[in-house]
Amino acid sequence: MDKKIALLKDKINQANLGGGQVRIDSQHKKGKLTARERIHFLMDEGSFEEIGMLVTHRSTDFGMESEKYLGDGVVTGYGTINGRLTYVFSQDFTVFGGSLSETHAEKICKLMDMAMKNGAPLIGLNDSGGARIQEGVVSLGGYADIFYKNVQASGVIPQLSAIMGPCAGGAVYSPAITDFILMVENTSYMFVTGPNVVKTVTHEEVTSEELGGASTHATKSGVTHFACANEIDAIAHVKKLLSYMPQNCEEMAEPIPYEPGDESRIELNTFMPQNASQPYDIREIISIVTDVDSFLEVHKDFAENIVVGFARLAGRSIGIIANQPAYLAGVLDSNSSTKAARFVRFCDCFNIPLLVFEDVPGFLPGTDQEWNGIITNGAKLLYAFSEATVPRITVITRKAYGGAYDVMNSKHIGADMNYAWPSAEIAVMGAKGAAEIIFKREITSAENPQEKWLEKEKLYSDIFANPYRAAERGFVDEVIEPAQTRIKLIKAFKMLENKVVNNPRKKHGNIPL
Ligand code: COA
Repeated sequence: MDKKIALLKDKINQANLGGGQVRIDSQHKKGKLTARERIHFLMDEGSFEEIGMLVTHRSTDFGMESEKYLGDGVVTGYGTINGRLTYVFSQDFTVFGGSLSETHAEKICKLMDMAMKNGAPLIGLNDSGGARIQEGVVSLGGYADIFYKNVQASGVIPQLSAIMGPCAGGAVYSPAITDFILMVENTSYMFVTGPNVVKTVTHEEVTSEELGGASTHATKSGVTHFACANEIDAIAHVKKLLSYMPQNCEEMAEPIPYEPGDESRIELNTFMPQNASQPYDIREIISIVTDVDSFLEVHKDFAENIVVGFARLAGRSIGIIANQPAYLAGVLDSNSSTKAARFVRFCDCFNIPLLVFEDVPGFLPGTDQEWNGIITNGAKLLYAFSEATVPRITVITRKAYGGAYDVMNSKHIGADMNYAWPSAEIAVMGAKGAAEIIFKREITSAENPQEKWLEKEKLYSDIFANPYRAAERGFVDEVIEPAQTRIKLIKAFKMLENKVVNNPRKKHGNIPL
């Protein structure tokens, strides 16, 4: 028996070494952790149980039968993160560059099946040179198997992808289907075709970092939700993100203990600038209203005219969508609509109530927006809010103009409670523009057109630059003192805790993509 146990131990040691010490050293030299080190930092101490440690590839072409590594380039298993069951796969770049073979894919698929059956989140730590070139189509089939399961798991369990090295070609599509992507600055990149192919096809000279590095995807494409300073930071973000989510679509996120105190926030009564055109940072309102230090912004550097993220209110997890007057006056455009729509849908999948702060002057005009499909993209957000069945509350802090008023979780599209601050202006457009259109003849024929315009602007403003017309109709449920916002929200979300809405039975809707 001793010999047999020694053999087992030898195999375990071999597996733990992945592609060998030289390649581990080379990984470290690049400033990267190994697959196992990443798992060590991610999971609760001693909780990780590996599955499939002794799996090897079945390839025989190109002399592959004589080069086998236990585990075949991916460490898979389960454990706990902050005490909650979580499944994780971590690609091992020291084994054939973390490339995806048939068996590597089988290990990931097996884990995904388990995660779905047992209703727990799946974390992918990606670091791979893509399809295992020596295996050809078998490896491509492996990718497709993973994509298919990603789609099956979508909306059933949270799926998070941390990109910690290369992620190129077909490999990008698994993370793209998952709920959140996190990338590491300078050591990770994602692209469908790399710089060499780009140069051949489009004659553009571009580095990997410029083409698909973390900051490119965090600012230009929005492909990644987080650009993290290093791998430890990315792992910390994964843990924090998970803390706002339930285990699966049948559960609610676990609240954290909360001691009620003085919930009024008197500073909000003097927060709003006197001049309605003056910008302010909506994040300040978010941090005053929500639990201390609880806001985790998602997509921070992409489409900054809308702010989305998770926070806690009296210990309960909520999703926040807020127009950002400090950037492009908080206008809705294609990117901000798409960003917010995806976030709304994630929250709705996983029973996370939605809180909207609204200060929106309308949709961004221009050929760029129209030709890039602002109609279709704006409709995404409208659709996402309309189909969401979780508790939904809106607070109109200032402008709620035009079609954007309807889109931003208005009462008409199913919001449960709509509050407005006394500074709210709910109208088809700003008073200046409105006066110019409806009093055009009077203004142009006046002795002093400028004076007439101002007079008519004031008239329109007196009627609509307030929340009371909307409140008279019940489109706003209550006009509230800003200082009372947190109190009102805590009570209203509690009141909505057992909300049940069943949308009409259908195969699935057809969101304008
Ligand atoms: N299939 C099989 N082996 C692969 C591989 C792949 N797709 N990608 C990398 N490897 C192997 C390399 O042969 C090398 O093996 P070795 O340690 O025995 O020398 C090892 O992984 C490390 O690769 P290397 O190229 O030395 O690392 P790098 O950091 O300099 O470059 C990549 C990383 C990913 C940019 C580069 O390996 C690459 O371009 N790979 C191919 C990407 C691709 O076209 N994939 C298929 C399309 S999805």
